[in-house]
Amino acid sequence: MTNRVRAAVLHEVGGVPEIREIELAPPAVGQVRIRLEATGVCHSDLSLANGRLKHAMPVVLGHECAGRVVETGVGVRELSVGDTVVLNWAPACRACWFCGHGEPYLCSNAERGWHRAHARLPDGTPVYPGLGVGGFAAETVVDEIACIKLPADIPLVEAALLGCAVLTGVGAVRNAAEVRPGESVVVFGLGGVGLSAVQGARIAGAGRIIAVDPSPEKAELARRLGATDALEPGPDVAKRVRALCDGRGADHAIECVGRADTIRSAWSSTRRGGHTTVVGLGAASDQLSFNALEIAHFARTLRGCMYGSSDPATDIPLLLAAYRAGVLDLRAMVTSEITLDEVGDAFTRLAAGTGARSVVCFAGGDQRSNVAGGDQRSNVDGGDQRGEVAGEAS
Ligand code: APR
Ligand code: ZN
Repeated sequence: MTNRVRAAVLHEVGGVPEIREIELAPPAVGQVRIRLEATGVCHSDLSLANGRLKHAMPVVLGHECAGRVVETGVGVRELSVGDTVVLNWAPACRACWFCGHGEPYLCSNAERGWHRAHARLPDGTPVYPGLGVGGFAAETVVDEIACIKLPADIPLVEAALLGCAVLTGVGAVRNAAEVRPGESVVVFGLGGVGLSAVQGARIAGAGRIIAVDPSPEKAELARRLGATDALEPGPDVAKRVRALCDGRGADHAIECVGRADTIRSAWSSTRRGGHTTVVGLGAASDQLSFNALEIAHFARTLRGCMYGSSDPATDIPLLLAAYRAGVLDLRAMVTSEITLDEVGDAFTRLAAGTGARSVVCFAGGDQRSNVAGGDQRSNVDGGDQRGEVAGEAS
């Protein structure tokens, strides 16, 4: 039995995802087939589509997913058919230097699934799973270690957000910035990631939480989720933030846009000795500059943060507990529930900065077709076609 499913396939940089039928490979050793229930549309998907981040193509984007296990490959130990899971786009190998030093979010092998085709187009062209996940499709095939099992009662639209935006945003505040009760936090960019950072700051007991975004609707949402103040960006935004923080500046800035000018504003918003955590993934061509005096003089810290410096295996249960306790609002961040055919429209909204998360909700049966009698062992291993996300520049 071959497995043909509907997918939004991006053929080239700058293109629009096109609905195609793809033929999924059967799960290999240690892999599972997942029927997707919900996939959030993240700014990183847009960056992969417009070439700001690089990926092997054609690709099925979508990496913020929840779904149900429908088939298990040989050697799968922890998962069974019927289990619901949230997917991890950077599963740690637990064996490399970084994993051995407590930094699984920097795992040297986390990207191995990104370069391995998981499906074919009808003409035999290999198709790659975006960030190893391939969530804009009725089904996907992933490594078991890319799945975090969910309790049966968690709604999967909400759960999907945990897989990227919430792990990243809450994690940046909790794990990277280590915000302490009473500290002041400014968050730049109020998409799914920034709104999660705002919630993370509230959960951490931050004092003043300042939200910065050009969109007034985002300001409103941020206030609902815990922001005490909302500002529109502008040339003097750092000065306005510092004024709100006793003239000194914020203890922490969390940058969730991915641009040199917002990273610069975030840095300048902090007090002497303050901390800026950069979550946004910008363009390699977008240069940031500092003068040689200010670094030592202000004694500020600027740090990057991948995947919220989190370990999904331990952080997802903590986030689920916060959700259950009613302190982490996942539903409020979902501003559009869409079909697979509407992924392109969701990209347009992301580019315009309107809405928070759009989530593709899969209707079930009609998204998928099982064609009996095909070649079960179709080899879709794409060999060495590597797609380096960040390129060589450092
Ligand atoms: N100042 C503040 N906010 C801005 C600015 C600016 N100058 N320009 C744009 N924004 C806002 C947009 O209005 C939008 O609300 O930044 C927000 C970005 O949100 P999304 O596009 O929804 O992005 P999100 O998915 O949250 O990801 C944010 O994190 O993981 C990375 O690649 C991802 O770089 C992206 C970032
Ligand atoms: Zn993402």
